[in-house]
Order: sequence, then structure tokens, then C-alpha cells
Amino acid sequence: MRILIGNDHAGTELKFEIMKHLEEQGYEVENYGTDTKESVNYPEIGAKVAEELAAGKGDLGVLICGTGVGITMAANKVPGIRAAACSDTTTAHLIREHNHANIIGIGARIVGVELAKDIVDSFLNAEPLGGRHQERVDMITAIEKKYSR
Ligand code: RB5
Repeated sequence: MRILIGNDHAGTELKFEIMKHLEEQGYEVENYGTDTKESVNYPEIGAKVAEELAAGKGDLGVLICGTGVGITMAANKVPGIRAAACSDTTTAHLIREHNHANIIGIGARIVGVELAKDIVDSFLNAEPLGGRHQERVDMITAIEKKYSR
């Protein structure tokens, strides 16, 4: 499985920890984030990862900023992307199972490294449940289409 990862300056250290954790498990990881702590703009990185994912360059995405919120907000503007910031493992598997999320956001200033690894694992090990959940996801897609040019 190919994971696209991105982060701003607030998420650099956590990004490297998550990348190592994923590569140790055999995931292929593509890094679109900054590798330094110099200030960058999270919307640009969220959009880049989202565009690449929507274009089929990977299977799922992981975005990291200070809260995990700004970078997922940006990603969600790209059609086909369903990104959600999580700070617990239950939400992490439910966003995949019920909401068919394709990107998870993590707040490097919110959760510690070990919890962040568990959150990402919960997300990646879950599968979309389909059925009534697919119908609701289709409703989200219909809203997206209604407001896209
Ligand atoms: C950067 O200081 C910070 O605003 C950013 O990492 C993120 O938390 C935004 O949502």
C-alpha cells in the first residue's frame, strides 16, 4: 500500500516518526511535506497531497500540522478527498469505516508520538464498510458536485 504523507513545520518531527513506523511495516511512503522546522504554509501541503491522492498516485494519505485541522481543511477542498483530523484511535477507524475517509490528519501539538502511531495504524487497518455508509458518503459527494464549477 502506498501512503502519501505531508506536513508543515509543526509536524516535521512527528512526520519522520510516522514515516519510519510505516516503512517498518512495509508501507511505501511518499513524502510531500517539509523536512525542516522553517515556517511553511499548511494549505499548500494539504492541497498537494490531496491532489496527488485524487490523481491516483497513492492509496491513502496522512497529513500532519499543529492541530491536524488546517491541513485537512485544505485537503477537503479537492474533489474526491475526505480528510478528517483525529486524536483518538476509535475516531481513526470510524472515519475509514463509516465516512470512507481517504486522508487522516494528526495534530503534532495535540497528540504524542506513540498515540499518533496507534491512530495512524487504526486508520490504515480499517476498511470502508459500504452499505448504508456508502449511501451517506454518496450524499457528501453530491454536495461536493453541487458546489463545484
Ligand atoms: C502553524 O503554526 C499552525 O497554524 C498549523 O500547524 C496548524 O495547526 C493549522 O491548523
